[in-house]
Amino acid sequence: MGRACKPRVVCLILLTLLLLYLLPWFWSGSLQPASGFFNYEVDEMLGQERQGKFQESNPDVVTVAGLGVGQPGQRRLCPQGSFRLPTMETCMPWLGCKEITNKVTTLGKIGSGSIKKVYKAIWRNHTVAYSNLTKPTYRNFILQDIEMLKTLQHPSVLQYVGSCNTTLLTEFYQLGSADFIENILNLNTYSKFNNVRTRFNMALSYLEAIHFLHNSPLGTRVMCDSKGPRKTLSQFLITQDFKLVLSDLDWIPEVNHEAHHFIKCRRIRTKSKFVAPEELWPFGNETYDNSRMPSYDEKTDIWKIPGVVDYLLGNVNGSDVVRSHLFKVHQQCQNRDPSQRPTTKVLLEEYNRVKNMLFPEHITNSIVNYSRHF
Ligand SMILES: Nc1ncnc2c1ncn2[C@@H]1O[C@H](COP(=O)(O)OP(=O)(O)OP(=O)(O)O)[C@@H](O)[C@H]1O
Ligand SMILES: *[C@@H]1O[C@H](CO)[C@@H](O)[C@H](O)[C@H]1NC(C)=O
Ligand SMILES: *[C@@H]1O[C@H](CO)[C@@H](O)[C@H](O)[C@H]1NC(C)=O
Ligand SMILES: *[C@@H]1O[C@H](CO)[C@@H](O)[C@H](O)[C@H]1NC(C)=O
Ligand SMILES: *[C@@H]1O[C@H](CO)[C@@H](O)[C@H](O)[C@H]1NC(C)=O
Ligand SMILES: *[C@@H]1O[C@H](CO)[C@@H](O)[C@H](O)[C@H]1NC(C)=O
Repeated sequence: MGRACKPRVVCLILLTLLLLYLLPWFWSGSLQPASGFFNYEVDEMLGQERQGKFQESNPDVVTVAGLGVGQPGQRRLCPQGSFRLPTMETCMPWLGCKEITNKVTTLGKIGSGSIKKVYKAIWRNHTVAYSNLTKPTYRNFILQDIEMLKTLQHPSVLQYVGSCNTTLLTEFYQLGSADFIENILNLNTYSKFNNVRTRFNMALSYLEAIHFLHNSPLGTRVMCDSKGPRKTLSQFLITQDFKLVLSDLDWIPEVNHEAHHFIKCRRIRTKSKFVAPEELWPFGNETYDNSRMPSYDEKTDIWKIPGVVDYLLGNVNGSDVVRSHLFKVHQQCQNRDPSQRPTTKVLLEEYNRVKNMLFPEHITNSIVNYSRHF
């Protein structure tokens, strides 16, 4: 301020004006009305704070966040055969054996499934996730996973970085997998994101991922590894801006209506209350025989959407308001006749309608206008 305001009076006036300008923000922060959970301005300020935080560590995310939440195609993709981590300025060709053997250092283990052990790792100053096999016998599973990942690169899918034989390198997602979303949002660090807006946007990104699977370059793919809401969410990772990306592509069989090619998600009987009715053994107490089990299509995924979204919406102020707006379309998702259930396209339209109604986007503008007006 030193040189900018020589005469003291000018300084004082400026300061007073600044304070007067800031006062409403302080008030809106502390005197939240009970109906404040759809208070877009406060939400948006949090959003900007978050953007600012990312700006230090990775400039690329800001542009992505600036595109607005929930739009399909948020993450800018590199051309096929290349990748760009949030900490990189430009796209680079996928990494092969030489680079992975010489330039990657593994750090601690961050997770493990039945097929992969996953480690945090450093490649030339960038954090990545390094996965290798739990058992040599699963070789073909991980190879299949790698091929799928390479072919299905999309903003709704975990970013592929490189591979060498059965070692896989991908983008590292600090927030981990989405089955732990409640734990994450309940951490003090993230408590300010534990609101209905973040949760709704996560639900929307989950829906976008299913939409992508149902309309993928490899045809209509079904998310079979989904016998409960948490199991389903364990197939997703959480991005820094709280979107879900598909991470596990080793069990997504193809449905082809024209070719009359349908699927059975498992070889054994399930009694899960979460799955669609057509996934259940229809012959009562007769001994289960997989060859007699009728096959089905991608509408099994649609049946599960209300359950997963319900889980994601959780129990914060506003969750039930969103639930009530989605009630009708969710009821259609659970029509016993699969052909009567909506497609992901219809669901996306409905979700976006609810989003525009409850979480309109012109918030940044209103702040800008306000300061101009001032
Ligand atoms: N890119 C990543 N960034 C951060 N954490 C990850 C990443 N990939 C995997 N993880 C963690 O490692 C765990 C195991 O990974 P994943 O579920 O993909 O293994 P899997 O063996 O293929 O699983 P499944 O048993 O379902 O087939 C995940 O639940 C997640 O917590
Ligand atoms: C919901 O809002 C009320 C009133 O603003 C507040 O007292 C309460 O703590 C909020 N609950 C949650 C879970 O955020
Ligand atoms: C890695 O980071 C360090 C310190 O941040 C820097 O000195 C070094 O040049 C970087 N190396 C590469 C390859 O980017
Ligand atoms: C997987 O990677 C870890 C960490 O680099 C290593 O210790 C382990 O031996 C590897 N396992 C296999 C089966 O290659
Ligand atoms: C690839 O890995 C398998 C074990 O997972 C090993 O038997 C084989 O020799 C490896 N091939 C190459 C080319 O490294
Ligand atoms: C199986 O169901 C039939 C009729 O649905 C019934 O008559 C029969 O007793 C049942 N058997 C067993 C072992 O429960």
